Amino acid sequence: SDTVRINPSILAADFVNMQADLARITTADFVHVDVMDNHFVPNLTFGPQMVERIQATSPVPLDVHLMISDPEQWAPQYAEIGAASVTFHLEAATDPISLARRLREIGARAGVAVKPATPIDGLLDVLDEFDQILVMTVEPGFGGQSFLADQMPKLAHLRAEARRRGSQVWLQVDGGIGESTIAQAAEAGADTFVAGSAVFGADDPGRAIAALRSEATR
Ligand code: DX5
Ligand code: ZN
Repeated sequence: SDTVRINPSILAADFVNMQADLARITTADFVHVDVMDNHFVPNLTFGPQMVERIQATSPVPLDVHLMISDPEQWAPQYAEIGAASVTFHLEAATDPISLARRLREIGARAGVAVKPATPIDGLLDVLDEFDQILVMTVEPGFGGQSFLADQMPKLAHLRAEARRRGSQVWLQVDGGIGESTIAQAAEAGADTFVAGSAVFGADDPGRAIAALRSEATR
């Protein structure tokens, strides 16, 4: 795909000024919403009640990233809230394909995420069961970490397979994406880019989004 999507992560936003921060990223394609349960990852953010308020407030559709255990129990309600996409972790799911089908039935795009140490081989034959595959370029749990360039072969492999099979699946990267790393990820085959600190750490988030977009399409 030639389309590039920039999804700012509100993990780097001001949690008590969320409405104002959402208003600063209206040129984004999606708002990336990191849900953490202090069990799948050693950090805690918020749950469905907060995400429902973000959904009601955001001018941009939501891209929910669930870093939680037992996604079978929790993921569907994020789709029901109206999130445009709901991504759960492959490592946490008992039956990823059934869960993806349930999310699609509710009306969300279904995403599956892999941590840096998780292979993607099992996904290659079932690419079209998902609308997006998220290759983590940091260990999930915290913003502001360094981009793991060693994940690029995984992306390239997914891109080659998607091309070979004529799949429309979106390939997303998350973690350490900024002006100096986004081109590598785009080159490897990503088309959807999550950026937290690079957007909300900038004086002008709108300009940061534009800069990332142009670096990714270079
Ligand atoms: C990390 C989260 C990311 C995080 C990225 O576990 O999934 O979405 O917000 O933050 P940066 O862009 O600062 O690495
Ligand atoms: Zn994320």
